[in-house]
Amino acid sequence: MSRAAVVCGLGGALPATAVTNEELAAQLDTSDQWIRTRTGIGLRYVVAPGESTSDLAVAAGERALESARRTGNDNDTEADVDLVVLATSTPDRPCPGTAPGVAHRLGLGTVPAFDVAAVCTGFVYALATAASMITAGVARRALVIGADTFSTILDPVDRTTRAIFGDGAGAVVLRAGESSEPGALLGFDLGSDGGGADLITVRAGGSRQRSTGEPPAEGDQYFAMEGRPVFTEAVINMSESSQRLLDRVGWTPADLDKVVAHQANVRILHAVGEQLGLEEKQIVVNLDRVGNTVAASIPLALSDAAAAGDLVPGHRVVLTGFGGGLTWGSAALVWPDIEPVTQP
Ligand code: ACO
Repeated sequence: MSRAAVVCGLGGALPATAVTNEELAAQLDTSDQWIRTRTGIGLRYVVAPGESTSDLAVAAGERALESARRTGNDNDTEADVDLVVLATSTPDRPCPGTAPGVAHRLGLGTVPAFDVAAVCTGFVYALATAASMITAGVARRALVIGADTFSTILDPVDRTTRAIFGDGAGAVVLRAGESSEPGALLGFDLGSDGGGADLITVRAGGSRQRSTGEPPAEGDQYFAMEGRPVFTEAVINMSESSQRLLDRVGWTPADLDKVVAHQANVRILHAVGEQLGLEEKQIVVNLDRVGNTVAASIPLALSDAAAAGDLVPGHRVVLTGFGGGLTWGSAALVWPDIEPVTQP
């Protein structure tokens, strides 16, 4: 038995506006049939004018704290939260980080708060960061949020990205506990390959472009992705990362009840399942209802699966993500008895 970070609260938030495939097809050269068969996505949500990543992060954070309160298996309250880590690649502003403002709006006082930018792997990286700070004794109770508003950086005429991405936020509360408890994070596998940095990128807006003193080239202010190589890399890296973690934790794929992988494309999820030798029932899918919500993807999938009763206490779970950077990462835990809060 050793000190560990234990998941004790889970929340999610989506913006109010849903966009159907049919609505996209009315604006772009695409169809419900193409989007469903090539990605599995049926619906995504987008922020309203003036709404930002921190608005969604605050809503998800509040709900995760409410979930921890309802779970009530420890004596701490949100007043005891002493760390906020926010995974996002669409911060409210390029500077400063978005997390301090989120902590402030949540009434968490002067706790340390910072952003982690690892695109779609951001939530797993943030989870590993917060868990390491808890096991090192630097923090006792952490709010870890994944929030993104990719609708704000997509090219309005790019059918390949607009069909896929949606906005959202998901959050967990971690507390200090023991590795033998349900909810304890049992291990991580993290990696990156900067050789693939150009495959998922916003070319303009950073120091590389700004130092030229020239305005961005046409279209460079938007998010760009090379779908095919990203697809291949996502399958390889989520499968291999999950397998390395399973080996480390001492589980086999057959021991797993659920894999909660980054929700990018249902064909990617099935290919990862095939690589690991999993059955379909072991793979959580919610991208049909929310699309690819980037750093929010894994906690929103957890919330949906737990709320639907597909994820139950005692389940052996692997979380695995892949995204820009390139980055990838996985985490393992036994699912705790918690009640997710996704609506106010
Ligand atoms: N509607 C209709 N046609 C489309 C659409 C659309 N929405 N999107 C692309 N097409 C077209 C293309 O233009 C192309 O047409 P062409 O042959 O005339 O050039 C054709 O469909 C095939 O394009 P592909 O890119 O080969 O299509 P593919 O089946 O690979 O699907 C997709 C594209 C969905 C982007 C897929 O490659 C994918 O899911 N990639 C991985 C995305 C991912 O995992 N992202 C995770 C990380 S993202 C992050 O970190 C932020």
